[in-house]
Amino acid sequence: TEHTLTQVRNVLVSLAYEAGRVMMVMGPDPSVYNESDTKKNSSDRVTDADRAIECMVASDLRNRFPGISFLGEETTEAAQKLTSAPTFVCDPIDGTLNFIHGFPNIAVSLALTIDKRPVVGVVYNPFRNELYTAIKGQGAWLTLPDGNQERLPLRPIPAPMASLGGCLVALEWGSERQGPNWELRTDMAKTLMSSKATGGAMVHSIRSSGSAALDFCYVAAGQIDMFWEGGCWIWDVCAGWIILEEAGGVVVSANPNDWNPELESRCYLAVRGAKMREQEAVVKELWGLMGDRKFVF
Ligand code: IPD
Repeated sequence: TEHTLTQVRNVLVSLAYEAGRVMMVMGPDPSVYNESDTKKNSSDRVTDADRAIECMVASDLRNRFPGISFLGEETTEAAQKLTSAPTFVCDPIDGTLNFIHGFPNIAVSLALTIDKRPVVGVVYNPFRNELYTAIKGQGAWLTLPDGNQERLPLRPIPAPMASLGGCLVALEWGSERQGPNWELRTDMAKTLMSSKATGGAMVHSIRSSGSAALDFCYVAAGQIDMFWEGGCWIWDVCAGWIILEEAGGVVVSANPNDWNPELESRCYLAVRGAKMREQEAVVKELWGLMGDRKFVF
């Protein structure tokens, strides 16, 4: 059957609100120092709330849209790849470590892809009661706790970026704490923070909010200038990606010279809206700081 993207958006919004209620009832998790919910190491966590939300979202979507595939953080086999068929992509809790600690920067992230590109995106932070949504071609919106909707980017719209100088740059750390990707991440943090590397003008600072989905939304809102990460997964970025694009921003690769990364590439540089010529200069400046290094997965 044919479903309109608006119908899909409305279902994803109601599931996101329901997921938010589950998060508020089940967390923050008191077993914060319990290692039993560890996937890979003590910083790679999954909680009962992650599993409960993904199960609820997956079964509801399979019932309503039996023809649409499903990719979720907690249930997808490593071998399952995104195809061109319509696919729901779900991260039940993006920012699981924040959730465990009660740090209120977490979100459920739900998206629909067609031809391996996101066309609907919904990101909801229940702690702040902030909902970000987008449908391809219809703009990106923030619904505030009072129910009012603001179009993204938020006003006042920041001036175009001429260089990295003066930018607020987000990056995340992931759960890997050694090896070449870790070295690249830590070196870039140091390079970005040092004034010399940016031709005189300083990057204002770097931020790590702990949720890649919300980092994308903050870039879409114009509150952060760009977000650089190698290592997160399709479910972390899929909804944020269309929200950012609909707010006039772009996603290129975290690795140099790839202007058109795949959703599954795990390497993303999200840049807020500005005139393309200026975006290009800033993107090249950031890539230049990486030298000949890149993330390898
Ligand atoms: C993680 C967060 C984090 C990013 C990791 C992600 P999760 O998602 O988005 O900011 O650094 O790469 O895996 O595990 O909390 O859903």
